[in-house]
Amino acid sequence: MNYKIISFGMVLFAIFLTGSEAPFVKMTNAKCPSYNKSWVEVHYCRLKAYSRNKTSLNINATFLQPANNIFLRLKLMKRANGYKPFLWDFTFDACEFMRKRNQPVAKIVWNLIKDVSTVNHTCPYVGLQAVSDFHRVEIPVPMPTGEYLLLITWIFDGKPQFSTDVYFTFVEDP
Ligand SMILES: *[C@@H]1O[C@H](CO)[C@@H](O)[C@H](O)[C@H]1NC(C)=O
Ligand SMILES: *[C@@H]1O[C@H](CO)[C@@H](O)[C@H](O)[C@H]1NC(C)=O
Ligand SMILES: *[C@@H]1O[C@H](CO)[C@@H](O)[C@H](O)[C@H]1NC(C)=O
Ligand SMILES: *[C@@H]1O[C@H](CO)[C@@H](O)[C@H](O)[C@H]1NC(C)=O
Repeated sequence: MNYKIISFGMVLFAIFLTGSEAPFVKMTNAKCPSYNKSWVEVHYCRLKAYSRNKTSLNINATFLQPANNIFLRLKLMKRANGYKPFLWDFTFDACEFMRKRNQPVAKIVWNLIKDVSTVNHTCPYVGLQAVSDFHRVEIPVPMPTGEYLLLITWIFDGKPQFSTDVYFTFVEDP
């Protein structure tokens, strides 16, 4: 199979990673459920602990068929008697973004990660997709201290195929 190793998925994780005066952020858990294993096979999805305060995210998944039509739904949640919607819940056309860079939030993130990304191409995406040792987690907007969950649903041809879910702790003023 013609595998292409890309870091496109990093865009998703990076959506909450910009800004310079970073408050304390630590990823605490990662889950990547596949809803359609005949399209997306997740080999690996976990955090690696560097220290008590620092973890890195590693994901490795294969798209078994080319994905030509990709939308991403980003949903941020904050814990308060279960996780409740917080700040972001929007869906955008990822293929169009890779052509036009037309989504402002995604663009900030893309600019930040393009230097560490090995691939710069448009749809389709097929084969191995990897995020390796992603640890530059910073928050672009003011947020209260708390436990958060960033859910990213990958929608191919209008149907959710898998999700990449990252839990993190945020401390406003450590
Ligand atoms: C599951 O993936 C296959 C491609 O392997 C696709 O043809 C099918 O439409 C997908 N099913 C759903 C519900 O998206
Ligand atoms: C790591 O966390 C501990 C306890 O939460 C804190 O005292 C320490 O300053 C932190 N270190 C860094 C480098 O953030
Ligand atoms: C991804 O996982 C597969 C199966 O475990 C492995 O063969 C491959 O080397 C991994 N690739 C990367 C880039 O991590
Ligand atoms: C991505 O490709 C575009 C078009 O070829 C190019 O202008 C841009 O510099 C590339 N970016 C990176 C980070 O390679």
